[in-house]
Amino acid sequence: MKGDGVAIVMLGPPGAGKGTQARKLSDSLKLPHISTGDMLRESLKNQTELGKKAQQYMNSGALVPDALVDAIVAERLDREDCSKGFILDGYPRTLAQAQALQPLLDQKHRKVLAIGIEIEDSVLVQRLSSRWSCPKCGKVYNAQLEPGKRNGRCDECFEELVQRKDDTEAVVAKRLQVYHNNTQPLIRHYQDQRAYCNVTGDQPIDRVFEDVKKLIENHK
Ligand code: AP5
Repeated sequence: MKGDGVAIVMLGPPGAGKGTQARKLSDSLKLPHISTGDMLRESLKNQTELGKKAQQYMNSGALVPDALVDAIVAERLDREDCSKGFILDGYPRTLAQAQALQPLLDQKHRKVLAIGIEIEDSVLVQRLSSRWSCPKCGKVYNAQLEPGKRNGRCDECFEELVQRKDDTEAVVAKRLQVYHNNTQPLIRHYQDQRAYCNVTGDQPIDRVFEDVKKLIENHK
């Protein structure tokens, strides 16, 4: 599978499996996985200025203002490990973010391949309420499908698993609404650039990954 030189953008609603597939792609293509959600959660945990500003938005399921997110992405893409391509997970999420990203890609002569994971909202609420993750290494588990081997602790570092604050039913409903209003229009945006393709998200993780790999192999 070749991913060299490409900016892969994982698109899809909360819980579609963007992070799960981005991590697998990152291992397979040896490209950095850049998740704005992870970066923001890290800032929040460390109570940096950015974290303090982002907290109220994230906890309520709203989007963090574009300018804050654009700035952390621009800084991240400038690092050496992005020189051969990268996988964006959770960014861009608004048309304004896509417009802020474009000149950064043009400078690096990098083309976008946007991969949409398409799935019904009804599946997502169930998935997100089953998600647990390790606060230390970030490994993600699913209480029903991938519960881990150590009974509520991380397989890798034995840390106690936690649930995300924004995975409650009310906040998930808000995140889905925000997705449909603000992020779904990006599908059209990347279709117009002939840079969008999609996979079906409601199938086992490895099957989704097979489909994602095929899209990348066929991408010229
Ligand atoms: P973020 O962390 O990006 O959350 P999200 O987009 O809502 O996506 P999730 O991480 O919930 O889901 P995912 O699609 O990655 O699914 P996952 O692979 O984990 O953003 C959080 C918040 O940060 C936002 O609400 C916003 O406030 C802020 N933010 C972030 N980026 C921003 C931006 N660009 N602009 C402004 N604000 C921003 O899988 C979910 C679960 O399902 C797991 O348990 C997994 O094991 C399981 N699973 C995955 N695939 C499958 C499958 N095929 N079958 C069964 N189970 C599966």
